[in-house]
Amino acid sequence: MLRVSESDASGLAAASYIRQWFDSAEVTSVGEGAECVTDQIAFLQDAAAGGAALEFGAGRGWLALQLAAAGIPTHALDLSPTCTAHIDSVAAAARLTNIRAVTADMRTYRSVDRYALVYCSFNTLFHLLTLEEQQDCFTSAAANLGEQGRFVVDCSRAGRPNREVTFFAATEAALTVQATGYDDRTGITTAYFATLEDSAPVRLRQIRLRYSSAAELDDMAQQAGLSLAARYADYRRRPWSPTADRHISVYGN
Ligand SMILES: C[S@@+](CC[C@H](N)C(=O)[O-])C[C@H]1O[C@@H](n2cnc3c(N)ncnc32)[C@H](O)[C@@H]1O
Repeated sequence: MLRVSESDASGLAAASYIRQWFDSAEVTSVGEGAECVTDQIAFLQDAAAGGAALEFGAGRGWLALQLAAAGIPTHALDLSPTCTAHIDSVAAAARLTNIRAVTADMRTYRSVDRYALVYCSFNTLFHLLTLEEQQDCFTSAAANLGEQGRFVVDCSRAGRPNREVTFFAATEAALTVQATGYDDRTGITTAYFATLEDSAPVRLRQIRLRYSSAAELDDMAQQAGLSLAARYADYRRRPWSPTADRHISVYGN
């Protein structure tokens, strides 16, 4: 029997990233959503140490545009040409000349440029649904880093598999609820989002993620020639503990 419950704080964090992704028409100009990611942008700026940055899985550029606006030369890579076209058009409208969008696969991308920072945020690494694909992403990050480069990965277990239906988002016209399922065999979590509206068919969307533990990521890093430089619980550098739901991991070469 499915149970309906209120979303908790981690659910809200997941809600905010997924809203950015699915309702990305909201993200139309540089700086939108800035209040949510100020700490993250400051952290990434420090990690870039004045060098250039490459985002893996940039989506519609919510982060990359802000990082560029903060003065870091940024390349925003995504598999989706719709996303990269959006980034280029926002950058042009904002007259941001230090950002370029790249349509490519983060598993195999090899740039002629070398970056001080490669970063992959909001569980984007876990969109790669096997350990081998995630390993390829680490290898690709390592190949694109310059000397003393940093690969920053941001992972969370928000959206942990359960048998509940949770409140996700509501407007006057629509209610969206979320349920998650977990496949023991593949380790893949599927999050389903159902939007209910008056006089409209139910809209069902889903995201699939293959969560990997911090230890598994450290192994992938090692295979790629990287090692863990620091691990935090959040972008304010609060200490991480193995029981934490989230980690920001910084790998160096
Ligand atoms: C969670 S969203 C991105 C969120 C983004 N970092 C932001 O801040 O808005 C995940 C993105 O990863 C992209 N993606 C998934 N697999 C990819 C791959 N193999 N190579 C490049 N991008 C990929 C998707 O197209 C999607 O835009």
